[in-house]
Amino acid sequence: MRYPPRPAPALLAAILFLLTGAAAMAEDAAGPFTLQQAIAGRSALLENCTGCHGATMNGGGGGGAPALTGANFQEDWLNKSAGQLFRFASTNMPLNMAGMLPRETYVNLVSFILAVNGAKPGPVAFTGNSDVRIGAIADGRTVTAVLYGEGPYAPPPYPAPAKKRR
Ligand code: HEC
Repeated sequence: MRYPPRPAPALLAAILFLLTGAAAMAEDAAGPFTLQQAIAGRSALLENCTGCHGATMNGGGGGGAPALTGANFQEDWLNKSAGQLFRFASTNMPLNMAGMLPRETYVNLVSFILAVNGAKPGPVAFTGNSDVRIGAIADGRTVTAVLYGEGPYAPPPYPAPAKKRR
């Protein structure tokens, strides 16, 4: 049995790109952070940021804090780099207590914000420095599993209580 001739891989890639568009490509590229960083960022955000930015990061916390998701995130951040988002957050937030958190916490917070907005974790840990354009790794559509810490994004369980020694 004869198969039709196969198009060259490069041609296939070009056709795929035209068909699916850049947005779908963006969803495939791994973000510059790990799953563990995104998970740690969620608890840090609940602790330090949602009072103003809202429990679902929709800006509903009062005080005029903007949403860190949706149209607002898309407008402000898709054309900037992950490193720029890190620099902004670590030098301006939490408002009135800017820069109070350890660098590692800001690294985790930004990993989580990127993941909520559609970036996928990858093998490389975020350091705070990254020239990757956010729009190249995220489409700005809220991923609710990340937002609510479900599935692979579930927080680690509390450690089992130590057994009493007799
Ligand atoms: C006391 C209220 C408050 C707290 C707490 C707070 N923010 Fe903000 N945040 C704001 C306000 C108000 C703005 C808008 C002002 C601005 O853009 O300079 C803002 C802006 C931002 C932006 C930019 C949003 C955009 O689209 O430009 C980011 C990112 C951000 N905050 C992240 C954080 C993180 C991460 C934390 C927790 C460490 C945090 N914020 C805690 C009030 C707060």
